[in-house]
Amino acid sequence: MFNQRKVGIIGAGHVGSHCALSLILQGVCDEIVFVDIDKNKAQSQALDCMDTVAFLPHRAKIKRGEIKDLREMDIIVISVGTIDNISKNRLSELEGSLNMIKSFIPDIMKTGFKGYFVVITNPVDIVTYFVQKLSGLPHNHVIGTGTGLDSARLRRTLSTKLNIDAKSIQAYMLGEHGDSQMGVFSQTTINGIELNKFLEKTKLNIDLDEVENIVTKAGWEIYSGKKSTEFGIACVCTEIIRAIYSDEKKVMACSGYLQGHYGNYGVYTGVPVIIGKHGVENILELELNEKEKDKFNKTIEIIKKHIEIGSEILDETTCINF
Ligand code: LAC
Repeated sequence: MFNQRKVGIIGAGHVGSHCALSLILQGVCDEIVFVDIDKNKAQSQALDCMDTVAFLPHRAKIKRGEIKDLREMDIIVISVGTIDNISKNRLSELEGSLNMIKSFIPDIMKTGFKGYFVVITNPVDIVTYFVQKLSGLPHNHVIGTGTGLDSARLRRTLSTKLNIDAKSIQAYMLGEHGDSQMGVFSQTTINGIELNKFLEKTKLNIDLDEVENIVTKAGWEIYSGKKSTEFGIACVCTEIIRAIYSDEKKVMACSGYLQGHYGNYGVYTGVPVIIGKHGVENILELELNEKEKDKFNKTIEIIKKHIEIGSEILDETTCINF
């Protein structure tokens, strides 16, 4: 019998429900189990998703479940977080997010779950670090969406300014999925043509610092008008999960674990990773210029500082020695 592709989603709110819809509309999985502290919401999201099955590319089953049902999932998406605590700075959500993940990660691991975590919950780089710590899974099994969305926003912003399709632009935001993220403009290409050469040839004059600021603030701009972001992040999650199931060896920005990459160790942060059936199978090191190296190291320091804060939070309440 063929294996059914089963995905668990913890957190059936705006983000989790749109991850589910994106996954089933694109035919990436066969079964989805929603787990949420609000059982009625999880049940309603499942039923609402099931209302699409008559229109999907193939049959899918979406239901509400409990932590114990996550044992047989291949991949679990972590999209917990309450809208009212999303502030202007994602780092301020750290304590609330850690208190949520520590309430369920150990129980998931007790079921014998050995699959992959895709972490969305903010501040995603630090939360991904602690999901790996609390789960004990290998680092390549725990993937944060990181600057995957920010890199898509960078491509969208450049697409508008250059009048070039975003899919023809290779561009990365690296570092924290947050205020300290940085654009690697020296390595940005338009179908292989370096950005600076493209600007010279087309006589376009673009303020790259302004572009970087637009991208960095994009999440807040969207949130301030609709009190959530959901569509873009759901597509990032879907890309990661498709790359795992199809063993795509896909290169995309995600929060990966640095083990000497970019001269840094022991942190999850937004970098170009290769995703396949073994999760994060490698990390690509872009050649950064001096200004970019300086910005990257600054963002790593911010993440490291909040890992220390997170260790104190969890150490106090969970008695885990990191
Ligand atoms: C955003 C959320 C996912 O940037 O942090 O839209």
